[in-house]
Amino acid sequence: NWTMSAYRQKMIEKIRDQVGSGRVICGLSGGVDSSVAAVLIHEAIGDQLTCIYVDHGLMRLNESEQVVTMFRDQFNIPLVHVDAAKLFLGELEGQSDPETKRKIIGRLFIEVFEEEAKKLGGAEFLAQGTLYPDVIESVSFTGGPSVTIKSHHNVGGLPERMNMQLVEPLRELFKDEVRVLGRELGIPESFIGRHPFPGPGLAIRCPGGITPEKLDILRQADAIYLDEIRKSGQYDKIWQAFAVLLPVQTVGVMGDGRTYEFVCALRAVTSVDGMTADFYQFDMNFLGKTATRIINEVRGINRVVYDVTSKPPGTIEWE
Ligand code: XMP
Repeated sequence: NWTMSAYRQKMIEKIRDQVGSGRVICGLSGGVDSSVAAVLIHEAIGDQLTCIYVDHGLMRLNESEQVVTMFRDQFNIPLVHVDAAKLFLGELEGQSDPETKRKIIGRLFIEVFEEEAKKLGGAEFLAQGTLYPDVIESVSFTGGPSVTIKSHHNVGGLPERMNMQLVEPLRELFKDEVRVLGRELGIPESFIGRHPFPGPGLAIRCPGGITPEKLDILRQADAIYLDEIRKSGQYDKIWQAFAVLLPVQTVGVMGDGRTYEFVCALRAVTSVDGMTADFYQFDMNFLGKTATRIINEVRGINRVVYDVTSKPPGTIEWE
């Protein structure tokens, strides 16, 4: 893509001008935006960049490993992988309110990030994968809805608190352009085309209280579901697909015995921007096959249901 390769060069020059010989810290989330920003900045200033990946223990199966391997081994970007699962899960213990869960995660994320940045000896710059729509949204925010449906956790106040300047090389781009740039930079397709994943991760896909055991069950079911979606060639037609582990146990029968285990709900939606969404129309054979696999392969689940709610009135996530 001619335009994007020109943009890449332009941004590299701009980043070098802004940063000079300063140090930059970039928080990775595993998402496309922060990944593309990090790779672009690394191309511009090399090891003046350090990435921090705060692993809250709420990622999907093997996801943290994939992120760490890609950045460290494939791109040789200095990366601090902070395993903070114990801290996050400890503070989330006994908490079942969705907003409380989000607030705890948001606060801990900032605390851990700050602490790690201090350990690195600080930096003058903080890199963020802010996109053009984020810029517009925050400008029009005062005129926005007065009711908070969900307080999406973000690191908005972080640069001021830490007294850092922002490096935001994606500020002029839309999501599809970020993907083009990511391909241009050699980021693998499996990463570029990924569905969005919420900051609080699996915490909001485990309605009610969270335990390591529940997270483990959810991870396995989710991985089987996504595996079936990929194998059937439907992944790219879907905006987001994920499993939810309901805090409800039901009776089932397996072999000669009675079971009493959790219900797993499957969700898949189509959407343009996440603001509205339609439930995705799988065929029933696909759903039946996936449910059978989940129940046979995951201990702890004996019933699977499919969510046929669109947004509105539902939201995409269950919390
Ligand atoms: P809802 O559930 O509000 O989701 O229909 C719309 C989009 O936002 C994502 N989402 C979040 N992302 N922090 C995030 O970073 C959050 O707390 C959060 N809650 C929802 C959701 O995955 C969907 O893409």
